[in-house]
Amino acid sequence: MEFKLTSESLDRADADAVFITCFAKEGEKPSAALLLKSDGGQELDKLLEGQISKTIQERLFAGKEGEILSLPTFGKIKAKTVVVIGAGLQKNFSLDSLRRMGAKLVQTANALKVKNVAGQLEATRIKNHAPQERLQAFTEGAVLGDYNFTTFKKKEVPPAKTLKTFRISAKGNKTPLQKAIAQGEIVATAANLTRELVNTPPGHMTPTDLAKAAQEVAKKYKNIRCKVFGVNEIKKEKMGAILAVSQGSDEPPSFVHLSYKPAKKSKTKVALVGKGITFDSGGLNIKTREMEFMKMDMAGAATVIGVFQAIAQLKPNIEVEGFIAAAENLLSGSAIKPSDIITTRAGRTVEIINTDAEGRLVLADALDYACDQNPTYIIDMATLTGGAAYAVGEIITPILGNDKTLVDKILAAGKAVGEPVWELPIVKEYKKGYLKGPADLKNSGSGSKASTICGALFLEDFARKNKWVHMDIASTAWADEPMKYYAEVGATGNPVRTIINFLLSF
Ligand code: BES
Ligand code: ZN
Ligand code: ZN
Repeated sequence: MEFKLTSESLDRADADAVFITCFAKEGEKPSAALLLKSDGGQELDKLLEGQISKTIQERLFAGKEGEILSLPTFGKIKAKTVVVIGAGLQKNFSLDSLRRMGAKLVQTANALKVKNVAGQLEATRIKNHAPQERLQAFTEGAVLGDYNFTTFKKKEVPPAKTLKTFRISAKGNKTPLQKAIAQGEIVATAANLTRELVNTPPGHMTPTDLAKAAQEVAKKYKNIRCKVFGVNEIKKEKMGAILAVSQGSDEPPSFVHLSYKPAKKSKTKVALVGKGITFDSGGLNIKTREMEFMKMDMAGAATVIGVFQAIAQLKPNIEVEGFIAAAENLLSGSAIKPSDIITTRAGRTVEIINTDAEGRLVLADALDYACDQNPTYIIDMATLTGGAAYAVGEIITPILGNDKTLVDKILAAGKAVGEPVWELPIVKEYKKGYLKGPADLKNSGSGSKASTICGALFLEDFARKNKWVHMDIASTAWADEPMKYYAEVGATGNPVRTIINFLLSF
């Protein structure tokens, strides 16, 4: 799908369908008045001899968010179809409304089997947001909404995506708008890459495959470097925790170090650390439910890869390093056992209480390695605890950390891109239970039910004295049902756009 910026009026637009946006009006019945604050709706209505307003009344179109009305134009204008899309109440209209609108329009265009659509976004003004911000959000939504996981559909071919060109007519200077479209495409395409990696089943996305996906990004973009550690290098690095988690699997673990340097030297270096469990069976503490979702347990790692693809193109002004700890958590005669004691790269010993608390183990080694690179900030991203869903639900990512400024920056970045983040406290008292027993630390059984907080407490020390945050994406990396701009059940790409926004804020 290609976006084209034009200055054409909608009646002359070189498109199969034109769309007009229509706000709802509080307390008002469906009426022609809905077209008052729309994008070219009144003009088109005149050319179509009042057919749009008539149909709005007849079909009780109320302008609710995402509501769609499509009608034929019978040769009165160049396009064959007019699509009216509801924008909801103007007072509630936001950048995220525009993302959802972009997604809905792409999905509608494909359902109508049209090749080209055209429209404008003049009426969808939002206080304090420049036209380019709105256009970027709309583009992002369109690209995110166009993603489906179809790689493994071979005989059952999904409905073809007919939409080729999305024309947006805009006034004024085109350069910043063109840039906004490009940025929206880059960011959303990166999120879609992450979604594809997460959706890919574990047999096709082993730790080795995950490392290859990182290498592919580095191969494509000259400003990205990628070093992959195989099992021997992981042994040499004394990453005892990664080795322990993977020892029950036939698949060797892998560790990935990605790096990006800006053209102008920067003092700031951000380390992104991702949990890359390509399948989490729970190990000997085998999962009794929802194991079929556990291909998504590498979403943190996939986020790192998606972010690197975007920054290679968007070139932020700071250094960025990415670290991926990839392993499969299986069970076999060689699997790690509850009560086993392992030694992490940091030298800290851990008693394995629960083999299903494996994410914190691989992250411990990855964080310790990341610290050696002297980063200014460390952000780890992990599908760490089912408890994240109980704490803040399916659309909010809990964040915990030791640096208020860093937390606040990520809260702001998440808000700006429509990936909400909420801070949870690090409650030191909950850590006491971890410190009991024969090793330095236990990997589970802290005694508190706040599993998301306890996950962060386990990780905290492995970040040493660095400014660090932990994002638990267990509930937000995957959508159990279609929502927002996600057309189907599956990976969301959350929090790829948040991290990109954060990195670009320097
Ligand atoms: N990968 C899971 C967490 C998870 C659960 C992700 C549901 C996505 C959806 C993680 O490795 C795990 O099993 N965590 C345990 C930790 C516990 C044993 C301390 C959990 O959350 O129950
Ligand atoms: Zn687990
Ligand atoms: Zn896991």
